[in-house]
Amino acid sequence: MSFLPVDELFELKKLALEALNGAKSLDELVEVEREYLGKKGSIRRQMRRLGKLDPEQRPAFGKAVNEVAVSVESSLEQLREQLKKAEREKALQAPNFDPTLPGVQVERGALHPLTLIDWRLDEIFRAMGFYVLDYPEVDTEYFNFEGLNIPADHPARDMQDTFWLTNGQLLRTHTSAGQVRTMKEFKPPFKAIFPGRVFRYESTDASHDHTFHQVEGIYIDREVSVAHLIASMKTLLSEVFGREVKVRLRPGYFPFVEPGFELDISCLVCGGGGCSVCKQSGWVELLPCGLIHPNVLRAGGLDPDEWQGWAFGLGMSRLVMMRYQIEDIRHLLGGDIRFWSQFTGTGLE
Ligand code: FA5
Repeated sequence: MSFLPVDELFELKKLALEALNGAKSLDELVEVEREYLGKKGSIRRQMRRLGKLDPEQRPAFGKAVNEVAVSVESSLEQLREQLKKAEREKALQAPNFDPTLPGVQVERGALHPLTLIDWRLDEIFRAMGFYVLDYPEVDTEYFNFEGLNIPADHPARDMQDTFWLTNGQLLRTHTSAGQVRTMKEFKPPFKAIFPGRVFRYESTDASHDHTFHQVEGIYIDREVSVAHLIASMKTLLSEVFGREVKVRLRPGYFPFVEPGFELDISCLVCGGGGCSVCKQSGWVELLPCGLIHPNVLRAGGLDPDEWQGWAFGLGMSRLVMMRYQIEDIRHLLGGDIRFWSQFTGTGLE
């Protein structure tokens, strides 16, 4: 079949517009659309032929066929709106139309509280000059343990039961696995947080799950202090809770910090009186932290005589529990719609 000369293309446009104007309903309009603009429609067929034209004919033909398509499409859209409006008006005139009946309610989705808190933490730390980073959930033994001053025969390995993969890698047991990675990646001084999911091969209860979320924070500079660390943690907690929260600091042992601390907060689920979340103690273990051990700085390629650092590993799932007064951590990754329908936050309020 020979190519339509440009004049005939305009004849095709005329035919298409006539057919459009003849459509009396949305269904008829769809038919006309298919006939002219559909994959096998006559306008599209002309477009496909462009490649087979002599090179000198292509520009004029291409321009013309494009113009035809655009003009038919825009008339089609206009007509579609008109027909929709007419059909709506007709429906409103129908004798059995009852405007007092309730409409179809549109269900509005909400964000998971973990996402809301994650976004809030990003905001708080960005405002304090921290980078927000992301590291792999499947990691090496080196970054999760060895680089953090926990060699294979170290008893501290027993503190975190691990899911091992058959290729020798593991599911990271803590976000601390990102510490040495950051030191290798960024030139100090720097501040960074890295939130994420972590995994432990342990039995579950109201405050322990096998899969949960933490946020690691790290600050490397020539001189850092415990006072600065505690001030940052207090800022973080008062920003998240919108008020002062009672905290206590205890010595804590982690091979990758020296000195190490446990920062606990007064349980907000029971108000400090004792419940299953705080194991009747009134306190929730939330925020271990400390000054980075020289061996870890060395693993990250930094000279401990020149650089110092502090780090914390916040239990984000527990923070979410405290913030929203959730009495069992297992709800967070469960799919119980009765539980979830209580949460309506979208992060925009
Ligand atoms: C750690 O994971 C260390 N990496 C934290 C750290 C970072 C210390 C930097 C010093 C410097 P720990 O195992 O205690 O520590 O876990 C940290 C927090 O994660 C706990 O305080 C708790 O809030 C939370 N957590 C621990 N295990 C679970 C679990 N099974 N389910 C839910 N949350 C947990």
